[in-house]
Amino acid sequence: MNESSSADGFRVEKLYHPYGGAKELMRSHEPEVLLCGPSGTGKSRAALEKLNALCLKYPGLRVLVIRKTRESLTQSGLVTLDHDVIVPEHAVWLANRGEWRYRNGSRIVVAGMDKVGKIMSSEYDIIYVQEATELLEDDWEHLTTRLRGTTLPYHQIIADCNPSGSSHWLLRRAQAGKLKIIDSRHEDNPRLVDPRTGEYTPEGRDYLAKLDALTGVRYQRLRLGRWVSAEGIVFNEYDANVHLIAAQPAFGGELPPAHWPRLWSIDFGYTHPFVWQAWAKDPETEALYRFAELYHTNLLVEKVADIITAWMNRTGEEFPEAIICDHDAEGRATLRDKLGVPTIGAKKSVALGIQAVKQRLLVDGEGKARLYLIRDAGIMPDATLFEAKQPTSTEEEIELYIWEDGVKDSTPVKAHDHGMDAMRYVTMHVDKGGWSLEQIAAWGRGESSLKASGSSSAPAKPEPQPKPPEPEKPAETPEEKQRRREEEVEEMNRQALLRARGFKE
Ligand SMILES: Nc1ncnc2c1ncn2[C@@H]1O[C@H](COP(=O)(O)OP(=O)(O)OP(=O)(O)O)[C@@H](O)[C@H]1O
Ligand SMILES: [Mg+2]
Repeated sequence: MNESSSADGFRVEKLYHPYGGAKELMRSHEPEVLLCGPSGTGKSRAALEKLNALCLKYPGLRVLVIRKTRESLTQSGLVTLDHDVIVPEHAVWLANRGEWRYRNGSRIVVAGMDKVGKIMSSEYDIIYVQEATELLEDDWEHLTTRLRGTTLPYHQIIADCNPSGSSHWLLRRAQAGKLKIIDSRHEDNPRLVDPRTGEYTPEGRDYLAKLDALTGVRYQRLRLGRWVSAEGIVFNEYDANVHLIAAQPAFGGELPPAHWPRLWSIDFGYTHPFVWQAWAKDPETEALYRFAELYHTNLLVEKVADIITAWMNRTGEEFPEAIICDHDAEGRATLRDKLGVPTIGAKKSVALGIQAVKQRLLVDGEGKARLYLIRDAGIMPDATLFEAKQPTSTEEEIELYIWEDGVKDSTPVKAHDHGMDAMRYVTMHVDKGGWSLEQIAAWGRGESSLKASGSSSAPAKPEPQPKPPEPEKPAETPEEKQRRREEEVEEMNRQALLRARGFKE
């Protein structure tokens, strides 16, 4: 489809033939069009080919390519644009402006919703949203107001995505007749399926085998292309429209106010993601806000400590009131050594923790919850997870965190639970009375009246009691055993912290 001849007569071309859904997208003029299908069907290539063809046809065209974060676009769409779509004789990449500039004056501006800046004050003829399911409907509507160019005979916002949950706003928008959805299939990508024979190519067989290995909703969406929600989502109270918010309206700035107490929560991992979350607590409403996160595989704890230290230097954030960790003794010891501050073992009861998080997610009469996730809080993206279409943040885990066999209040499936665990730990700490570093320091100074952080019902430091005669012990139930273990761990932590700070009881 794209061809050009260089001055010396040498033919330069990048051939592209659209098939199926891709062809339909090329021809469409509807104001809002979404090309949707399973993984690897050629959706993004089709959208970018359309933009390139229009840029060549209409000199002076203004195009915006946008995704949720600029970083994710760099890792995906821009590579295709550069390698496969744009012929170097036609356009150059102006890195400082973040745009492709064509010889004929057309331009493709590239941006992330996380750093829109002045991009939103410009006007465009056509906008392409990559992986539109990652955006909120507000973002989408905001983008449509930027479609004011006069070079193209029509205005259009095109988008692509893999299917998401069955009640996603994109589906509702299509049902309301505002958005046209075009289906995209593996047969539309000649790299996977030979268009002449209809047979899988060797690359296609390999690729499909990977998709066949997926399970649950991810199989349904990425292999079969279905809009489905997981059965039995644990946090069914969670609603991205309520709980996933931007920092600006929440705090009036990038970071929570300095006087709001901070808490860090950690779920160790190496092959599985290591999750570190920074939370702030609004002292008035007691609502918790996750405002920074590291969600990353293949990181040693030493490296994590360096990343967190660099983040502290960059943002001016200080050590929090408490660092709550899962019970990985080695990980905790390394963190302690590297950061120079002690950590606290989390209260691990899954059932209680889940209930505590659920309570916080509930929305009151004024539409307010008590637990929020700040959008785009990631401090270092994980390209491996991104490429593998695995969750890359706590918010992406939530809709994949499900009850075993879909049975409510049973046990959650041990998958996509890393951010979930960290969220549980911080909630348990705040709501079920954990000890903060400040309190421990206060006990060391002999002030025993402090309460545990954040909870009016939390226990104060236990006073030594005269020992009653040992009663005959009935057998422990599993719940009692779990609680006793937690109390023992809690006590060990407290003792360790006191020792670490040089305090004697
Ligand atoms: N018609 C085509 N001709 C040649 N190559 C194609 C064609 N369509 C897609 N491809 C190639 O197939 C690969 C996958 O395409 P693309 O990234 O567009 O898929 P996608 O549907 O956007 O995938 P995902 O669901 O992962 O976002 C790319 O390398 C792309 O260049
Ligand atoms: Mg794509």
